[in-house]
Amino acid sequence: MHISFLKEKNPCFFEKVMHNNYCYSHEDCDQALLKRSRFIRDYLKGFNKASNIPNKFYISNLIKSSMSIYGQMQEEKLMGFIRACMDSPSGDLVEIGSAWGRSSFALLNLSVYYDIGTLICIDSWNEKISVEQKSELTSSQLMQMNWDNMFDSFIVNMSNTISNNCNYIREISNKAIDKYEDSVIFTNEFGRSKVTNKIAILHIDANHNIEAVFNDIKIWSKYLVNNAWVIFDDYEWVYGDGPKNCCRSYREIIKPIYWG
Ligand SMILES: C[S@@+](CC[C@H](N)C(=O)[O-])C[C@H]1O[C@@H](n2cnc3c(N)ncnc32)[C@H](O)[C@@H]1O
Repeated sequence: MHISFLKEKNPCFFEKVMHNNYCYSHEDCDQALLKRSRFIRDYLKGFNKASNIPNKFYISNLIKSSMSIYGQMQEEKLMGFIRACMDSPSGDLVEIGSAWGRSSFALLNLSVYYDIGTLICIDSWNEKISVEQKSELTSSQLMQMNWDNMFDSFIVNMSNTISNNCNYIREISNKAIDKYEDSVIFTNEFGRSKVTNKIAILHIDANHNIEAVFNDIKIWSKYLVNNAWVIFDDYEWVYGDGPKNCCRSYREIIKPIYWG
């Protein structure tokens, strides 16, 4: 509906505007973002809590700053994030699979905007974990990536004035839950963060194999508060149906949000 309409009207919007910016002045780029933000606001007006929609300047800044971070999140998911945060209960935000921090940055920004709670990013940042899963990249490409550098980039990207609302656990999802159960998470980079153990938004974007997605939802869903949001990455995915099957199985108890 609105999303596909936007795609038709603006194919490869981001690539055109941001990546080929030799075609555009900085001001043209910002004007294009503002125009784009008006479309996003129109899309969001179709939902409850429409009075909560951020203005076009905030949305433009959110797109510009998140998309400047290397990563895989596309703009549709950013719209989904805004939609979820507009109507989110209070509590922790937990992201499983953060990589360089593109989606983490967007969630952190929105969490502060809507005063939702602390963001905890969970990722092993370890090539041995990542080669176990189906992926757009081959095992050798994954092994060649420098995962410590990826982790450093994550820290750089999340180190700003709002980072006291965020922390991370460098573990696989199964093990991270033990640390999450402590009510305080401490890291050298971000210090101490209090968590409530009540999850308002759960973003699952780690290993997309079906057993792994089921495992993530199984172990983390016990912390979901009433009306929490669960966001599955890659619902439609050429490499497998893990997120889709898992999401469908939980359809009775969780609200669908992102179907692309
Ligand atoms: C698709 S990337 C995340 C992309 C990121 N959300 C973004 O917006 O760019 C998947 C990440 O999940 C992590 N990962 C894979 N399996 C994991 C597991 N079992 N526990 C924790 N992290 C895992 C990988 O290290 C990788 O960084």
